[in-house]
Amino acid sequence: MFFHWLEKNPFYFASGISIVISFAGLLEIVPNFAEAARPLIDLKPRTVLQIAGKNVYMKDNCISCHSQMIRPFKSETDRYGDYSLSGEYVYDRPFLWGSKRTGPDLHRVGNYRTTEWHENHMWNPPAIVPGSIMPAYKHHFTNLADIETAYAEVVTVKTAFSTPYGPEFKGTRAAWNAYRPTVIEEAKLIVADMKNKDVKEAVARGEVPEVVALIAYLNSLK
Ligand code: HEC
Repeated sequence: MFFHWLEKNPFYFASGISIVISFAGLLEIVPNFAEAARPLIDLKPRTVLQIAGKNVYMKDNCISCHSQMIRPFKSETDRYGDYSLSGEYVYDRPFLWGSKRTGPDLHRVGNYRTTEWHENHMWNPPAIVPGSIMPAYKHHFTNLADIETAYAEVVTVKTAFSTPYGPEFKGTRAAWNAYRPTVIEEAKLIVADMKNKDVKEAVARGEVPEVVALIAYLNSLK
């Protein structure tokens, strides 16, 4: 009998078990890869300005102190709002869930903090939240955000992952030059609520300081 033989041959028996378990495992795992990630119905991909802000967030490692994932616990939903759904992250590349919460979760910070609040807070956190250990980010007010790379990123995710961006995003210099003013217009909407003179002047000149992009990004977290 085959099974008697198998039970007396540990090597083949172990191999047989591995094959059966791997097959069963694949049956469970593979469908999850095949299934396309489903965005929430009204989810829009981020704008170029917001992506430039996301890149500032990554560059300055905000993720080392902040998560972007609200767990389904009452203590969290009371504080931050609805718990996070996987469909909210489908356009995030990479996602910025984070795993460290030295500071609060930021996944819905756009619902309860304003441009003005962020401006004051990024300049000097303890002045706004007494006892805050968050570092100040004064260099964001002078460094310029890289909006051109953010535009290129949009073209890349549109081409590679079919992220639903419009026809105005094309990988040519002419297309970027034509689109640039749209980014500046969006930046103007943000600085309208800011008070820092240097930042306002920079945007009026057609430049985008990092803090403007970062705030656009933080405001988009809802
Ligand atoms: C060393 C850890 C640390 C780093 C790095 C850090 N933060 Fe914070 N952050 C905190 C702490 C602690 C708080 C809570 C106290 C406060 O509001 O200042 C906070 C609060 C905040 C808040 C207010 C959230 C709320 O719900 O009130 C925002 C927004 C924020 N951080 C954004 C950022 C951004 C953007 C960066 C990166 C540029 C960053 N933080 C980097 C520690 C950090």
